[in-house]
Amino acid sequence: MTPEDIAELTSPAGRVLLDSLPPYAPDLAMKLSEGLRRRGLPPRLVAAALTQSRLRQRAESKLGEFARTMLFTDAGLQQATRLKVAAHHARRYRGAGLTHVADLTCGIGVDSMTMAALGLRVTAAEVDPTTAAVARHNLHLFPSAQVIEADGLTLDLDGLGVDAVFADPSRRTGAGRRVFNPAAYTPPLDRLLALGADRPLGLKIAPGVPHAALPPHHEAQWVSDDGTVVECTLWAGPLARLPGAAGRAGRSALVLSGDQATQLDEQPGARLASGQLGDFLLEPDGAIVRGSLIAEAASAAGLDNPRLVHPRIAYVTADGCADTANLFAAFRVVDVIPYKVATLRAYLRARGVGHLTIKKRGIDVDPDSLRNELRLRGEAHATAVLTRVAGRHSVIVVTPCLRQASQEH
Ligand SMILES: C[S@@+](CC[C@H](N)C(=O)[O-])C[C@H]1O[C@@H](n2cnc3c(N)ncnc32)[C@H](O)[C@@H]1O
Repeated sequence: MTPEDIAELTSPAGRVLLDSLPPYAPDLAMKLSEGLRRRGLPPRLVAAALTQSRLRQRAESKLGEFARTMLFTDAGLQQATRLKVAAHHARRYRGAGLTHVADLTCGIGVDSMTMAALGLRVTAAEVDPTTAAVARHNLHLFPSAQVIEADGLTLDLDGLGVDAVFADPSRRTGAGRRVFNPAAYTPPLDRLLALGADRPLGLKIAPGVPHAALPPHHEAQWVSDDGTVVECTLWAGPLARLPGAAGRAGRSALVLSGDQATQLDEQPGARLASGQLGDFLLEPDGAIVRGSLIAEAASAAGLDNPRLVHPRIAYVTADGCADTANLFAAFRVVDVIPYKVATLRAYLRARGVGHLTIKKRGIDVDPDSLRNELRLRGEAHATAVLTRVAGRHSVIVVTPCLRQASQEH
């Protein structure tokens, strides 16, 4: 895809073609393409339109019905912020009374769109010409937003009258592989953090960032959406609600599920000791685990006598659990057996278990290989949690209670 392809797609003929396409179906795409070319449409335009049709369909899970009128690049869609999460970014700026945000690495423009939709003025920079053309299309309905094809680090922020900055650096190599070292982000994290000296700053980074690498005087917020941890966002200046203490970043989590949003802040001194396995097992949402906010979550969820099953493993046990909201997936403990394949196989056979959900923490097991080794037979379903109980590798057999919001392994 080139800037010329985007120009073709946004021309009157390109728009008519895009609007006329049926919902994307991979097995019909070839036939559709042949038919369009037979009608005299340029092959390149047809290919570009079908690519957009495919990407629009894929984008709906991230962006809802907005995807139907947007344009995409493959890489731009992969890296785009989910709409629901972008709305939380935008609200921070508006809530802090800021009015003009520079989105220094705008990609296809999802963060910029939500900021503009909340009434902020947005200057969006994108260094890649095709992605910039796509962002320009996606933002064309927002008169308060402009897209500049440029290196965002070279913008004259004072001259533009910008009063806050947002950046979501690329965390992938040209070959699409993930980059974990913040110094290898494009642009590098330290160059972006330096901008926070002059202006309120928000930075989207990888959720796996080690706590020791977090900059002091920032709020680090881990965000999950429907059980998947999607990012850590660093907030500086008036955008940070918890600027941290003793040279550390403040930590918080934002847990999104469906329409529900729960924010959890670190509490100084909050700590959960380990203890005996109780009647309930609770699996914290990933954003809570990443942010080391398990004690805070246990208290917010009103768990009865919460403790860790193992001091270094993120499973909580309790004697009772009310509605754990979206903070934990809650299970009732049915049995605890030693972790030995033969023992587990015999246990499951005796109960006719043919479908097994396997969860694990603190044990090095590949769930798919284990499932093969177990040679399951039967109609019943069971959930097995592989972890360490009282220092021993164990299987906690559980049944889900309340709701089940977490990922399965
Ligand atoms: C992770 S994506 C941004 C996604 C965006 N937040 C969204 O939700 O659509 C990062 C983008 O930054 C762009 N980029 C990388 N370095 C840049 C720079 N120095 N100036 C402007 N854009 C840059 C990349 O081309 C890529 O499109």
